[in-house]
Amino acid sequence: MKLLPFPHHAHTAIQELINTQRCVIIIDKNITKCYHIPFDRENLLILPQGECAKSFTTVKKILKKITRSQFDRSCSLIGIGGGALCDTVGFTASIYMRGISAVYVPTTLLAQIDAAYGGKTAINFMGIKNLVGTFHNPHKIISDSAFIESQNTREYYSGLGEVLKYAIGFDSELFSTVKNNYESIIQRDTHVLDTIITTCTSIKDSIVKHDMYDAHVRKKLNLGHTFGHAYEQAIHLSHGHAVALGIVASSILSKNMGILPANDFFEIINCMKLYGFNTSLPRLTKKMKTLLIHDKKILNKTIDFIIIEKIGKTDIINLELTKVLELVYG
Ligand SMILES: NC(=O)c1ccc[n+]([C@@H]2O[C@H](COP(=O)([O-])OP(=O)(O)OC[C@H]3O[C@@H](n4cnc5c(N)ncnc54)[C@H](O)[C@@H]3O)[C@@H](O)[C@H]2O)c1
Repeated sequence: MKLLPFPHHAHTAIQELINTQRCVIIIDKNITKCYHIPFDRENLLILPQGECAKSFTTVKKILKKITRSQFDRSCSLIGIGGGALCDTVGFTASIYMRGISAVYVPTTLLAQIDAAYGGKTAINFMGIKNLVGTFHNPHKIISDSAFIESQNTREYYSGLGEVLKYAIGFDSELFSTVKNNYESIIQRDTHVLDTIITTCTSIKDSIVKHDMYDAHVRKKLNLGHTFGHAYEQAIHLSHGHAVALGIVASSILSKNMGILPANDFFEIINCMKLYGFNTSLPRLTKKMKTLLIHDKKILNKTIDFIIIEKIGKTDIINLELTKVLELVYG
């Protein structure tokens, strides 16, 4: 496959950093298969692609490289990849010498609108996703939407599912942008994507600023994720498709509670359909129920569930899981 030139904005910004301080560049393997890498191989570490990076094995690999290079606290890790790579690099940076600086260069739509922001880091442990992690804000985020061009369709739609979360849950203007610019968004027009990325990250920043540690308002960012995670694991949907279905579940619950107006409900469903997301909930299987019962957010059989009051506005409501299932599945 012909390699693409490394995105210009990211290249310049990374080069500026390298010129001023000691850094190791940690990069997702798939990025090296898509782009010419214009950086010195000696300071480069290639990690297995995507989710495979989120393990103690790769963390040890990074730690060994920087220990051998006698990294001190003034050195930085630069992570180039999707949310999985940023999570791993951030986690490693947070534990080396009790914390060195991490710089993220997010390369997927999902990482550019969400995963790179907010300071959560994590790796997977004993088959459990994000079980081990820290809070560690990156020193800098270098975002370049040109990377999105090389994402495969499944991963791109995974990002779009999260875009819908921000639009439906937090910003009615963003909802209109997403609804009215369907063709440009599908064609990955960077002009429209840049606006969407800026809007989503400023929503996330404004929420995280009030609740870094997930105690109250940050929970709203879980919109669609309770059912979404269960669907993702039980029927192996991509994250974005699962979150989109999770938002449908939340819309049904909110409508059945008499909170979400019918008009807004149908607007949400139609927007999902416009992007080709499935809007019929899958049958509730035993496996899904087990996954929901073991959701990290369940406390004393109740959950802080994110409801939709209207397009652009969510709230948190504590409900028994049995009630949630009854309201969604009848
Ligand atoms: N820390 C947070 O707040 C936060 C928030 C949301 C998600 N996450 C985490 O982010 C991860 C999901 O992130 P993601 O959707 O970016 O997935 P990912 O990092 O797993 O990347 C998805 C796939 O795309 C490939 N890829 C990445 N950039 C590419 C590009 N430009 N061109 C071609 N291929 C490319 C990767 O190699 C991988 O195979 C999960 O591990 C999730 O837990 C973290």
